[in-house]
Amino acid sequence: TSKIPPIKEEDLQELLLTLPSEKNLDGTNSLYLYQGAWMSAYVLRAVYSFQRHFIAQDTDIIVGSMPKSGTTWLKALAFSVAKRHIYGPKESPLLTTTPHELVRFIETDLYSKDQQPNLEQLPPPRIFGCHSHYANLPESIRISKCKVVYICRNPLDQIVSFFQFAHRFKQDGTPFLSLDECCDNICRGVHSQGPFWDNVLGYWKASLERPDKVLFLKYEDLKEDIVSNLKKLAEFLEIPFTDKEEKEGVIEEISRLCSFDNLRNLEVNKNGVRPSGAPNSAFFRKGEVGDWANYLSPSMAENFMNIVKEKLAGSGLTF
Ligand code: A3P
Repeated sequence: TSKIPPIKEEDLQELLLTLPSEKNLDGTNSLYLYQGAWMSAYVLRAVYSFQRHFIAQDTDIIVGSMPKSGTTWLKALAFSVAKRHIYGPKESPLLTTTPHELVRFIETDLYSKDQQPNLEQLPPPRIFGCHSHYANLPESIRISKCKVVYICRNPLDQIVSFFQFAHRFKQDGTPFLSLDECCDNICRGVHSQGPFWDNVLGYWKASLERPDKVLFLKYEDLKEDIVSNLKKLAEFLEIPFTDKEEKEGVIEEISRLCSFDNLRNLEVNKNGVRPSGAPNSAFFRKGEVGDWANYLSPSMAENFMNIVKEKLAGSGLTF
């Protein structure tokens, strides 16, 4: 492990004073703009340590995403594919352990509990969840042979999912930003791990430049055809499904195990709370494509999508 000491509380407070800050969607914590990404002080402290202390191993798998883009699903899928030679779908730890405990978040779990967690003893392949922008990942992730799998989602569904999620676990009495105010912030890129376009574009461009390093997936594509996306994932991880596995229906079994209905109804995902304060159950809401239309007015949606289109223009990435 690195010998660099963790950030002192007073140094963190001093750093925060130098950063642009804005209200978070839940009306409480300030969001700070740190290295081009908006985040709470809680997350910033963890990111600071993660960047300085994390040492990637060639066998690592990083599950990257904007919050509320299908991270829970991709964690379950990546775990099931990468560890299938240890646990078959019928004895999967996913049946008794939430995906967020098996694939822990770097920013809101590992590095916020302990500024220098001991991760070296974890059995390979180690799999971590991460919401940071690609450009802000520690260099060792980019230079090692570890794999990065990213999931993104239609930004309108992502906004609505985030708004609903934040409502589920807000405990104090401070007023929440209205959906209108949230949309206004999001149009300016001010939301957890935003701007949306910078988060997705970092991984999108990396996936084009280094397709062996970064796999870029879309929630909607997984919904439409989970089997071919699971095959793509296994090939990318260099552990393709064998003909025998295909014949035995292993791919279908993994997709059933990780399906929204299956995971949501497991006892372990109905109870308990994550270190961030979010109940496990809050990660399973509707799991649908297009639910935004039940919450956002056509003009709100159009306004935001025009900004997204402009920001993504020329990249080849569309929603
Ligand atoms: P909704 O709020 O639209 O229902 P994240 O995992 O990144 O926090 O994203 C959560 C979103 O993914 C929620 O969307 C949640 O319901 C959905 N989700 C969780 N598990 C899923 C699964 N196994 N399959 C499909 N969607 C899932």
